[in-house]
Amino acid sequence: MSRANKVVLAYSGGVDTSVCIPYLKHEWGVQEVITLAADLGQGDELEPIRQKALNSGAAVSLVQDVREEFVQDYAFAAVRANTLYEARYPLSTALARPLIAKILVEAAREYGADAVAHGCTGKGNDQVRFDVSIAALAPDLKVLAPAREWGMSREQTIAYGEKYGILSPVKKSSPYSIDRNLLGRSIEAGILEDAWQEPPEEIYLLTKAIADTPNEPTYTDLHFEQGVPVALDGEGLAPIALVEKLNAIAGGNGVGRIDMVENRLVGIKSREIYEVPALSVLIAAHRDLESLTLTADVTHYKRGIEETYSRLIYEGLWYSPLKQALDAFIANTQQRVSGTVRVKFFKGNATIVGRKSAYALYDESLSTYSEGDRFDHKAAEGFIYVWGLPTRLWSEKSRTI
Ligand code: ARG
Repeated sequence: MSRANKVVLAYSGGVDTSVCIPYLKHEWGVQEVITLAADLGQGDELEPIRQKALNSGAAVSLVQDVREEFVQDYAFAAVRANTLYEARYPLSTALARPLIAKILVEAAREYGADAVAHGCTGKGNDQVRFDVSIAALAPDLKVLAPAREWGMSREQTIAYGEKYGILSPVKKSSPYSIDRNLLGRSIEAGILEDAWQEPPEEIYLLTKAIADTPNEPTYTDLHFEQGVPVALDGEGLAPIALVEKLNAIAGGNGVGRIDMVENRLVGIKSREIYEVPALSVLIAAHRDLESLTLTADVTHYKRGIEETYSRLIYEGLWYSPLKQALDAFIANTQQRVSGTVRVKFFKGNATIVGRKSAYALYDESLSTYSEGDRFDHKAAEGFIYVWGLPTRLWSEKSRTI
């Protein structure tokens, strides 16, 4: 029985997504498979990938450059929310999924497909992100996930592909599972599955080993307008260029490596290595600028929102009503988050060493311990009396009981 007639398949050029093409056609009775490869800045050559889909049996092979939208609407939204899953992972992989889901749905509409498909297995987070995003954007569309059901080992998958003329993968196969985009790289599997094993230096591409970093610090000024990074060292840059340039500076100084065991949505813990040079620095710098420009209560309240927002992204709920509501909160808080943060890069550290803003709430004449102090010291006494009153009363009562 046919599962669908016409399917738009998210395509990466790898073994699994390539094998999905004949599998959908021959096992699941799909008439026509249209593949869609998203250019998220993964640095792959997309023309061979486009061609490979056709050789694997796709009727139409689409390649879409979504880098600009990815950085502007997804990565920079995350920066405004200072997103770090489990306080560490800046969500570089997770952020791409809702965008891929969106263009899959758009292509399905354009080509009149009755289903979309992806090559995710049943163990990861990405299947959840795709399925839930598609359900949110197009509740009527079916989602097919052959790799979740076919139960083939890696070797069997390759053998199945060979039966239909799918030869060696476009990319040289590596012992690791790597996801890559403009924001960084996520690396797992192979020897990294031993959580005690230090990652070998060879896995890193975007970040230098400390031993190879310059012996002099590099200073970089990052300018934000309403929470969005817009310039680097005084030079206005479009989103992609800004991220690329900052990746080079931060990565060149060994900044942006994360080695963590994280809690996946499906209940499994996994050990993942991330290289996220620019995104890590942008979040740290943005947070610093918020400290300068937001009131204490908004700053503190926003921390809780940020944690929820990070989880929503990780857990595939980008298009959920709660995420939309939190977007409104975050947008409102960013109106005065404009200014410049100076970052010093040196030997694996990105240290914020200066910040300034026309909206700074930091006021030297209030903060100073030198001449010109305009803080009313005497007023502190009455404040402390009132502030401490409940605690004083509690203590007095404690003595009588
Ligand atoms: N653990 C990360 C996430 O869930 C990355 C997943 C993809 N990782 C990979 N190495 N292929 O967002």
